[in-house]
Formats: sequence, structure tokens, C-alpha cells
Amino acid sequence: MKKYFVIGNPIDHSLSPRIHNFWFKKNNMKAEYYKKKAIDTDLKFLISMVKEKKINGINVTVPFKKIVIPYLDKLSLEAEKTQSVNTITLNDDKLVGHNTDIFGFTKAIENLRYNMIGKKVLILGAGGVVPSIIFALKKMNVSQIIVSNRTKKKAENLKKLFHNLELLDWGNIVDFDVVINATSLGLNKETINLDFSKFGNNKLFYDVIYNPTETNFLKVGKKLGNKTENGKNMFVYQALEAFKIWHGIEPQINEELLEILNDD
Ligand code: ATR
Repeated sequence: MKKYFVIGNPIDHSLSPRIHNFWFKKNNMKAEYYKKKAIDTDLKFLISMVKEKKINGINVTVPFKKIVIPYLDKLSLEAEKTQSVNTITLNDDKLVGHNTDIFGFTKAIENLRYNMIGKKVLILGAGGVVPSIIFALKKMNVSQIIVSNRTKKKAENLKKLFHNLELLDWGNIVDFDVVINATSLGLNKETINLDFSKFGNNKLFYDVIYNPTETNFLKVGKKLGNKTENGKNMFVYQALEAFKIWHGIEPQINEELLEILNDD
């Protein structure tokens, strides 16, 4: 039986096992996908299990997307550029790190039919998924990317990966076309203490969080007359791309799948 894992910390809330096990069943595959809470010192061993073919693939989530890199033999171009790996596979006996978050975000925006060209984007947060979002936004030819993070050092570190990023002190706000919540604020009903009403409406409020379905950030955005989108499609599409890398099959996204991803 083939075995796959998602590793992270915390990991309890991960819906990756649900989505991958659903696709295994639909494709009559003999495989199982588990979640595993890990600490830094587990990573080397867990990844070595992939080399030994005892584990067939690993998804990596917060806070390990960068620190798994030294244990890998090769990175995809996207993983290299973002210094962020969320999918590990063995290819010709080489451990390869991929980044499918970029694909996930790009498909989510495509599905929305939202045209990012020339848009001014404000990103709140500088955590694990932000390099992937910035990479995707740059490909979409946005005109400006501004990052605001509580810990300024982390936002400054992003400037080492990307040119033309602007930084904004946490707690301040500037006009934007698109605002992205990439902080964890909202997972537990927190609000983001910024006045989003100052610059009119017809903007896009995007939240990386998908559980809860509608964070306070999205509620505020909607109330102010803006378009809103949560991170569910991004999550689904990053999983789809990982599935394709591991199994060479394009899995199906349908209502049944979206339904099982709703929290019980
Ligand atoms: P990681 O930072 O380990 O990659 P993450 O979940 O990807 O984890 O990122 C969490 C993000 O939410 C970070 O940008 C974090 O800000 P810090 O870099 O200052 O930690 C942000 N965040 C979490 N709690 C917050 C809070 N109470 N106020 C503001 N930002 C917060």
C-alpha cells in the first residue's frame, strides 16, 4: 500500500488527507494519505523515508516549507524562486521539492475571472504561503505589491527573494485594488484592525483561510461592497497539482469533493 503524508505543526486542521483519500477512492487506487504533526528534528528522518520508498510522497505545510529544502536533492524552478516547498516526490532516486501553491493561487484567481493586470495588491502577512502568492501575482503582471506584516523582519526577508516589493508598517493601510489576508487572523474569529472603508469599493478581498468559510475580514469586505473569495479553491488546486505530480492523473473536482471539505 502506497503511503503519503502531510507534515506540519499544527496539523489537526489539515484537510489534505480528506481530499487525497477521496481521489484515491475515486480512482480505485491502493494508497493512503495521513497527517503527521512534526517538529524540526523529525524532518530529516521523514524525508529519508521517501528516498527509501517507505513513504511515497510528502506534502509540507506551515512552518516547514522552507526548512525542508536542505534535505532535498533538487528543486523545481518555482520552489527554487520562492524558497518554498509543499510537495516532495522521488524522481529517478532524487528527492525533488515542488511548489504547487503557486498553481493553486493562480487557478483560484483564474476561476474568479478576475483580471490582475495592473492591479495594486496589498498583502497582509509574510508567512509560509506569501512567497508563492507574490510569485503568482508577478506572473499576472500586477503593477504593485505591498506587504505589511506584524514582524517587519519577515517582510524584509521577502525583499531578498523579490524585486520591487514595497513594505508597509503593520497597522497602517494604503489604497489598493486587491487586499489579501495571508495572516492567520480569522482562523479563530479574530478581526483585522484596519479601516478598509477609506478607499471606496469594487475591490477584491481575498483570504487564504478557507475554514471558516467566511472570516471577519471577508465579511467586512463584502459588507463594504467588494468582491470576496476564500482560500478553498487555492487549497483544492494545490492538492490537484500535487496529485498530478505523484500519480500522473488529473483528479476530478466536483460538488461531492467540495462538500466533504466543508467542516463538520
Ligand atoms: P509562519 O509565519 O510560521 O510561516 P503562517 O501561518 O504562514 O506561519 O503565518 C502567520 C502569519 O500571520 C504571519 O505573517 C504572522 O505575523 P508574524 O510574522 O508577525 O508572526 C501573522 N499573524 C499571526 N498572528 C497575528 C496577530 N495576532 N497579529 C498580526 N499578525 C499575525
